[in-house]
Amino acid sequence: MPQQEQWASKLGFILSAAGSAIGLGAIWKFPYITGQNGGGAFLALFILFTVILGLPLLLAEFTIGRSGGGNALSAFKKLAPRTPWYGIGILGMITCFILLSFYSVIGGWIIIYLYKVITGELSGIQSAGYDQLFETTIANTPLSLSMQFIFMLITILVVSKGIQNGIERMSKIMMPALAILFFILVARSITLPHAMEGIRFLFQPDFHKVTSHTVLEAMGQSFFTLSLGVSVMVTYSTYLSKKESLPKSAISILVMNIAVVLLAGLAIFPAVFAFDMEPDAGPVLLFHVLPSIFSQLPYGMLFFCLFLIVFLFAALTSGFSMLEIIVAIISKGDKRKRKISAWIIGLAIFAFGIPSALSYGVLAEFKIFNRTFFDLADYTVSNILMPIGALLIAIFVSWIMKKSTVFAEIQEGSQMKKGLIQSWYFLLRYVVPIFIILVTLDVLGIW
Ligand code: PHE
Repeated sequence: MPQQEQWASKLGFILSAAGSAIGLGAIWKFPYITGQNGGGAFLALFILFTVILGLPLLLAEFTIGRSGGGNALSAFKKLAPRTPWYGIGILGMITCFILLSFYSVIGGWIIIYLYKVITGELSGIQSAGYDQLFETTIANTPLSLSMQFIFMLITILVVSKGIQNGIERMSKIMMPALAILFFILVARSITLPHAMEGIRFLFQPDFHKVTSHTVLEAMGQSFFTLSLGVSVMVTYSTYLSKKESLPKSAISILVMNIAVVLLAGLAIFPAVFAFDMEPDAGPVLLFHVLPSIFSQLPYGMLFFCLFLIVFLFAALTSGFSMLEIIVAIISKGDKRKRKISAWIIGLAIFAFGIPSALSYGVLAEFKIFNRTFFDLADYTVSNILMPIGALLIAIFVSWIMKKSTVFAEIQEGSQMKKGLIQSWYFLLRYVVPIFIILVTLDVLGIW
């Protein structure tokens, strides 16, 4: 069996895992869901769930990955031999396959807009023109397919280079760049006239707007943004040395994730309010609202360009992790097999994503269960497969794995107090599963 590759440094691991977490969920979905759910109250719930449910799950995935080793399949097989629990790894693989197939469609749109902004095509359009431009752009089949392909190509090339030379190296460049660009964008946004209104909207909780739906949405969002339930974090932690502290790493990733969510809110809402736009514009917020805001500012298109670069980097570092879990399972640590499998799986994901891309063009009227292919893929992943995966992972660590193995793994490389480990175990054993079951039933409309 080939020697398992390891992260070159702890920082590399943290930036790569944070790169997986910080993606379209935190910076694209989060602002508009917050907009639709009354601002500050939603933010407060999101942070609460991220800490009491997300953090325990993240640490659970790390525990499985580092104690099991290998990949997301062999780790489960080693920890629970001759049982079907490795199905969690298979579920993660399938989920990431579907997820990346439509994630790359949005990645493609970002590349198209980046091209348009650089060539000046986005300048001088009247506000309403941006809606129309977006509709015609994404309905353009050859264009959206080719850019989706480019997004996949970058992902394949990076993953095929392996952990240290591929994912770690790119994350070490892209994540700090993302942070710097975000600070510039926030500085621009909060110095606009009336920026305070946006800041107030983001931070002032209006709990009247909170319904059961808001609560559930906040929870789903916290899982999605932390990449939980799909064994991506299991995979990344199989490459982690026993010397590193799992709880500390999990907390660093959590803090970065929340920081980015706040930065995204601070970059977007003040601008939205300064220009009297609606904060609840939905998924189109990025492609309609932002360009029309920035086109009215001096050097606005430069700032919009920075926004798109941030989005692209965030989407790519998440995309790497989705492909990596599958490639790691298939190549089993063999370098040559890694290259071939990255290409084959990457291209298969691209092919599977074609109907999602066409959902905004020729297949717009083609509906399964009343949804377009894109929406169906998104719905299945976010509302069904991910919660099931998260539930199974919580159960696996707290009910199936030996308690002594779990505790020993957490203590390896860390000085976490026994009492804290006990509380974590309790959350994982009772609180997390109960919450997930309630959410899933609600989202599926079963209760
Ligand atoms: N966390 C990513 C985001 O916020 C999405 C993701 C989910 C990535 C699951 C990998 C695995 O966009």
